[in-house]
Amino acid sequence: MSSLRIAPSLLAADFARLADALSLAEEGGADLVHVDVMDGHFVPNLTIGPPVVRALRAATRLALDVHLMIETPERTLAEYLDAGADWVSVHVEATRHLQRCLSAIRKAGARAGAALNPATPPGALSACWADLDYAVVMSVNPGWGGQSFLPGSVEKVRRLRAEALEGGIRLTVEVDGGVGADNAGPLAAAGAEILVAGTAIYGTSDPAAAIGRLRAAAEGVRI
Ligand code: DX5
Ligand code: ZN
Repeated sequence: MSSLRIAPSLLAADFARLADALSLAEEGGADLVHVDVMDGHFVPNLTIGPPVVRALRAATRLALDVHLMIETPERTLAEYLDAGADWVSVHVEATRHLQRCLSAIRKAGARAGAALNPATPPGALSACWADLDYAVVMSVNPGWGGQSFLPGSVEKVRRLRAEALEGGIRLTVEVDGGVGADNAGPLAAAGAEILVAGTAIYGTSDPAAAIGRLRAAAEGVRI
């Protein structure tokens, strides 16, 4: 069975109709729902916080993959965990206490992830391989949906997996930003196992079908 997971990003959905967006994700066979939390500091944009995560948690059976694009996440991490986040990633660039964050996430029973901006090398995680359940390769500079995929991200996925393996860890890699049917195949071939997509799913007239197309592209199947 394929270990590929598709995570539709709600950032590209209609924020006044999030329940509908969750239903479409379920209908399309999504594995996770990606929730982008932006604080207006780490990134200029401002999106959602713990009360919305809590409401989303109550409204779907799918696991919530909460991507914290916030400065000093250790200050508010507990609120997102308490709100029911199932997978939580913090940005390496946003904290001086990465290991503390990762262990707090695991202690709360969630899966712990670290996200890397495009300019941050895979080696930034090398002291923490064993503390990670997944790593997020940002394939755009975080802050907005609908940006163009940075092609160097495919090679970064490969390097990240290889470096973690050298450290004795089989790391699950998520890719986030500009992901679509055009790059899903090469990303999966490079070892990406979670594909986040906003525009390529909610920016289409049939989001449920778009999830299937993305999965087929990643698995190299023609439909
Ligand atoms: C960008 C966010 C992404 C974004 C992806 O800062 O972290 O999750 O929603 O959107 P698309 O797929 O439109 O690039
Ligand atoms: Zn994201």
